[in-house]
Amino acid sequence: MINVALPKGRLGEKVYNMFAQSGYDCPSILENNRKLIFENPQKGIRFFWVKPSDVSIYVERGAADIGVCGKDILLEYEPDVYELLDLNIGKCKMAVAAKKEFYDDNSSTLRVATKFANIASKHYASKCRDIDIIKLNGSIELAPILDLSDVIVDIVETGTTLKENNLEVKETIVPISARLIVNKASFKFKTEKIENIAAMLKAQVEAND
Ligand code: PRP
Repeated sequence: MINVALPKGRLGEKVYNMFAQSGYDCPSILENNRKLIFENPQKGIRFFWVKPSDVSIYVERGAADIGVCGKDILLEYEPDVYELLDLNIGKCKMAVAAKKEFYDDNSSTLRVATKFANIASKHYASKCRDIDIIKLNGSIELAPILDLSDVIVDIVETGTTLKENNLEVKETIVPISARLIVNKASFKFKTEKIENIAAMLKAQVEAND
C-alpha cells in the first residue's frame, strides 16, 4: 500500500485528479463528506487529506510515503525528504511587498512581517540587510497598512490581495509550484511503485505543458 498525503483544498483536488488519471483512483474520495482517509485496496493506494503546511511532516516522519506540497513549505521547513517532481500546478511566487510609496533606504533595521521566517531571513542575509522578523500566521497584508512592519514576505498568486490593499511587489524572491515529495525510507523499500507513480504523473505534467 502506498500512503499519499494530499493538501486539503483546491490544489489537493487537482492533485487527486492527476493521480486518478494515472490509474491510482479512489472514487469514494469525491463523496462530499468529512472523512480524511480513503483507500483503494485493488490499486494499493491510500489518500489522506492533510493541512497543506503539514504534508511535509507526514512524509518526513513516514506516516505518508509520498505527498504533494508547495515549494514554499520545502524552502521554509527544509524537511528531510526527496523532492521527485515539479507538478507545475499551484504556481505562484514568494515576494517582498510593501506600500507603493515605501522605499528601503537602508537607514534602519527593516521590519519584515511574514509566515515564512526562514525564507525571509535567508533572503535578507544574502543581501547583508539587517531585519527584524515579525512572525504572523495569516492576513500578512495588514502589517504594513497598520505600520506593524515596513514590508511583508508572502505568497503572491493573482496579486489581487496586494492590489486591494494598496500594496505592491517590490522584489520576487522565488517562483513556487507544487512538488511531489517522498519519504527517504519508503523510496528505498517501495522504489518500483513510487517510481511508477512519479513517471505517470510526469507524463501528465509534460502533456499539459
Ligand atoms: C495567500 C497569501 C496571500 C494570498 C495571495 O493567503 O498569504 O494573502 O494568498 O493570493 P493572491 O495574490 O491571489 O491575492 P491565504 O489564502 O493562504 O491566507 P492567509 O495567508 O491569510 O492565511
